[in-house]
Amino acid sequence: ATQYLADWRPYPFAIAETRLDFTLAARTTRVRSAIDFRRIGPGDLVLDGAGLKTLSMTIDGRPVDPTLIRADQEKLIIPADQLPDSFTFEAEVQIDPEANTALEGLYLSGGMFCTQCEAEGFRHITWYPDRPDVMAPFRVEIHSDKPVLLSNGNPVNTAPGHASWHDPWPKPAYLFALVAGDLRAIPDSFTTASGRKVALNVWVRPGDEPRAGYAMESLIRSMKWEEEAYGREYDLDVFNIVAVDDFNMGAMENKGLNIFNSKLVLATAETATDGDYERIEGVIGHEYFHNWTGNRITCRDWFQLCLKEGLTVFRDQQFTSDMRSAAVKRIHDVQTLRARQFREDAGPLSHPPRPDHYQEINNFYTATVYEKGAEVIGMLKRLVGDEGYRKALDLYFDRHDGQACTIEDWIAVFQDATGRDLVQFKRWYTDAGTPRLSLTEEWANGKLVLNFRQHTAPTPGQAEKPARVIPIALGLIGPNGDEVLPTTVLEMTEERQSFAFEGLGARPVVSLLRGFSAPVTVAREMTADEQALLLAHDTDPCARWQAGHDLALDALIDRTRGKAVGEALIRALGGLLDDAEADPAFAALCLSLPGEEEIATTIAASGAVPDPDAIHAARRGLVQDIAEAHEVALTRLFDAMAPQGPYRPDADGSARRSLRLACLGYLGRLDDGNRADTLFADAGNMTERQGALEQLIALDRDADALARFAAEFRDNRLVMDKWFMVQPLRAAPEKAVARARALAARPDFDWKNPNRFRALISGLTANHAGFHAADGSGYDFLADWLMKLDPVNPQTTARMCSAFETISRYDTGRQDKARAALRRIAAMPGLSRNTSEMVTRILAGA
Ligand code: ARG
Ligand code: ZN
Repeated sequence: ATQYLADWRPYPFAIAETRLDFTLAARTTRVRSAIDFRRIGPGDLVLDGAGLKTLSMTIDGRPVDPTLIRADQEKLIIPADQLPDSFTFEAEVQIDPEANTALEGLYLSGGMFCTQCEAEGFRHITWYPDRPDVMAPFRVEIHSDKPVLLSNGNPVNTAPGHASWHDPWPKPAYLFALVAGDLRAIPDSFTTASGRKVALNVWVRPGDEPRAGYAMESLIRSMKWEEEAYGREYDLDVFNIVAVDDFNMGAMENKGLNIFNSKLVLATAETATDGDYERIEGVIGHEYFHNWTGNRITCRDWFQLCLKEGLTVFRDQQFTSDMRSAAVKRIHDVQTLRARQFREDAGPLSHPPRPDHYQEINNFYTATVYEKGAEVIGMLKRLVGDEGYRKALDLYFDRHDGQACTIEDWIAVFQDATGRDLVQFKRWYTDAGTPRLSLTEEWANGKLVLNFRQHTAPTPGQAEKPARVIPIALGLIGPNGDEVLPTTVLEMTEERQSFAFEGLGARPVVSLLRGFSAPVTVAREMTADEQALLLAHDTDPCARWQAGHDLALDALIDRTRGKAVGEALIRALGGLLDDAEADPAFAALCLSLPGEEEIATTIAASGAVPDPDAIHAARRGLVQDIAEAHEVALTRLFDAMAPQGPYRPDADGSARRSLRLACLGYLGRLDDGNRADTLFADAGNMTERQGALEQLIALDRDADALARFAAEFRDNRLVMDKWFMVQPLRAAPEKAVARARALAARPDFDWKNPNRFRALISGLTANHAGFHAADGSGYDFLADWLMKLDPVNPQTTARMCSAFETISRYDTGRQDKARAALRRIAAMPGLSRNTSEMVTRILAGA
């Protein structure tokens, strides 16, 4: 059944306290609960419960009629006239954590009990109002022979076989967590600005302790940063992080007890790449920052998910910018937004950051809710200024601490703190689709007129798209490279709007959308020389990178049409290589040409049909030409970027490695992979080893390296995930599906583990020409595996359906094959609600 935002009604009861008592056993865990309810409005008592074996239920000690359970709706409904104004509801239920392969609620991972309750997992643990606007303090007792027993809040007492915890901060059930296992801690501590001493622990399996240090350092940096940047302190005596191997998503912000996918905790130079380290720091920050934006202030209902996720992503992006390079971080974020969110917004799964209906909320933990949600906040901040933003956030924390809020509440604090009218701005939250901003220019007598037009194409269920507020940050670069106008923010509010700049000497080039000031696509005519001018001289790193990127994209698209061009790009890259050492990270970003998926997206946006094989060939040809033209400079830089001293996962070190690997990507086309071979054998860090391995696979020279890698890392699940991922990802398109098939047949393809499943399957789906093989074998392979996983783990299955969201842009042969694969999934008996919703939406819109 579809849930609608318009149907939200306040819950008629408040909870004074929730007490839970767990007796843990793999197949027969007993959960006893006592919930103190007090009526605050009219209505029945509705509790959620799914898959529970109910042993007893009472109200103030009197038995509750078990026929009030409506198993089909997963609800228990006790009529209002059977309830006093205040009462205690008690229940005892039995659950089976070992059978819980869906990984929501209480489950086992490698012999450890753990939980995942967001969004609606708590109903798999016991009867409860499982909705985010019902908040309560919790007391939890755990009985188990596992040595470490954890829950939310502060420990009250622990003895062998037993622990009790008290969380004084009212919270919704989705923030509940419990962990029981044989775990070892990396301990540390943090003293908050007001002097509270907090005990910190990162809990891992015995033997993993040496790999958890970076996570702890990241936590301490996060706590300090949030105090400085937002004036917010931690509010309990302990903060625990636990790493688990089986997890559907990245991590979870449970109050005082964050649970993490182990890939976002464990790292050493030998086993983790620079990208892994950066993600660990960012996600540790993200979950920690949720303590204020998510936990202390939560969401009224799940339609408001971006209230906590958009804001928390925005904050983790700020954190990473401050810890590393702000320019590189911004460019990375723009790349991900385009690759994931623009893609989503352009297809059948398009939805607004705040959707108004859904069937399965877990399908809405999307790039739109997270990443676009963060972009919208970035625009707000740009419009009200840094000071206005700080005032609005202070008001938000002040006004809403302890509450479950809406996007309307969020907008209101900005209006109240800054006086700005945000009625039109709010459309960013309620309207789906990526606006297309077109620019035409008029030049005469020292006057430049910029004519802008914004247009958003219809999206599923939303035909009309009124104009939005678009902050357009721009500058002007004169023909000799001087900046004749520094960054200026234009506020576009109409469908068409013009802005004039007068008194200019010579015609400048517009450096548009500086800092990527709005999540829009840009349509404008530019010559290769103008793009090259910006690439050489723009003062804004984002716009400068964009100019080089567009130059490359145009060259690549021309090549798919049989024009072997790209001289302007090759010349511009020559200039860039000459002073690459001054800013290796930027040079590496420019050397990494647009990927095949992005080329396909751009071709489709122009109304043409992308040909995956032609795109692959075009990109390969351009790489070859660049390599031949710049062999000397690339070789010099490859050598100059060799490691200096021990590995450090910081911005400088990773910048050097990224430039080195970018050079390797070209040189391999000339040296047949000899450098990659040597680098793979000699490198002391995973960043360079994985980079070298990927190139050896692309050159079909990988047999020895893959065997060595597997022998060395057989016992390290996270590293073996990389091994499973890079093979289908980097294989030549015509071999990718066969390779994925062979890997899937291996006994160590532990497909019930979400990391392993995703590694192999998304390795293939990210190989653009391989997945979109003209014979449909990629689509069939994916469909077969989704059908196999769905009965075991619907959440992970449903998320991976999005590989099909772009099918309508390809030729009819591919479209038909992809649709047939989707219809096969749709027809599977017993298909989960999660997967069914995804497949239906994709088929309806494709
Ligand atoms: N709140 C978590 C985060 O963003 C995500 C957990 C979502 N899990 C899920 N099964 N939908 O940090
Ligand atoms: Zn989050």
